[in-house]
Amino acid sequence: MENTYLNWYELSLSVLNYEVSGSPRTKDFERLVLTGMGGSGIVCDTIYTALYRKSKIPITIVKDFQPPGWVNSNTLVCSISYSGNTLETLNTVIKSLNLGAEVCVVSSGGKLVEIAKERGLPHVVVDKGLLPRAAFPQLLIATIKVLNTYGVNVYEDLNKLIGVLTFKDVTAATSRELSYFLKDSIPVIISNFNYYPLALRFKDELNENSKMMAKVEIIPEWAHNDIVGWERPVNIDIIRALVIWDDDPTIEFAINYLKELGVKTYVLKPLGDDLLTKILQGSHIAGLTTTYLATLRNVRAEETLSIDKYKKFLQNRTVS
Ligand code: F6R
Repeated sequence: MENTYLNWYELSLSVLNYEVSGSPRTKDFERLVLTGMGGSGIVCDTIYTALYRKSKIPITIVKDFQPPGWVNSNTLVCSISYSGNTLETLNTVIKSLNLGAEVCVVSSGGKLVEIAKERGLPHVVVDKGLLPRAAFPQLLIATIKVLNTYGVNVYEDLNKLIGVLTFKDVTAATSRELSYFLKDSIPVIISNFNYYPLALRFKDELNENSKMMAKVEIIPEWAHNDIVGWERPVNIDIIRALVIWDDDPTIEFAINYLKELGVKTYVLKPLGDDLLTKILQGSHIAGLTTTYLATLRNVRAEETLSIDKYKKFLQNRTVS
């Protein structure tokens, strides 16, 4: 697992040449839905953030079995599932097709690719054999490519984007330091809205790779409720705050607030020239930190028994 994260740059290079199969039925849509779960779903959050300020159409993320009621032939539904068999994503795709939506697919195979091929939907098939969370850059690049066929421009220069994954030594050193900082704690990851996908990604990686509970708080909403809970925590010594830096006075306020309370706080400053590269580099740190933590905690990073249990429970169940 650690080696897969360390090889993210090399793995990403191959995706740059991937072709999008199938062609859009229409490029004329008025809304965009991004759908996917877990390690695939985080791509939805990342794309949403990258488009948030520049998109002229509404964008919604669906992490459920059902698309919203307003999905129709004027909607583009972009679905991402590494396995291609995740029931929530599959069901959302099938329902969206039934509602007349334009659908595109990013996956390594499974039923989703079968549907895409049968219907000639625009799709990118990424390489099999990784865990979905470890395939993040590939899924991200493939999604940027498939959206580009619709004229949705998420990021111009993909070579530049993945260039940030070459800073392996500094990324590994930060990750090592962070793994010791977070060991034996309940991490609370705090960011502003810009870095929400990275905060969520960090939490998810702590959950899946390190088998740890963690919590995410987003500023400014954090300052309207959660902030009060810090006044009387049950056990402040077990909490570690990981604040994702942005040049934003509300982040400075949060750091000072936590320091005044005596909360052990680490400020992470991701490297990169723009938001998306910083989110990717921060995700690289999250991957390595959480595999190092897995070793420190003597657990297997690859194994996610509880997710398997849930997926088994879902098998043979129909969702209406
Ligand atoms: C991450 C992971 C899960 C899956 C999620 C959805 O490594 O194992 O978070 O990503 O269960 O599955 P896929 O990505 O196959 O749609």
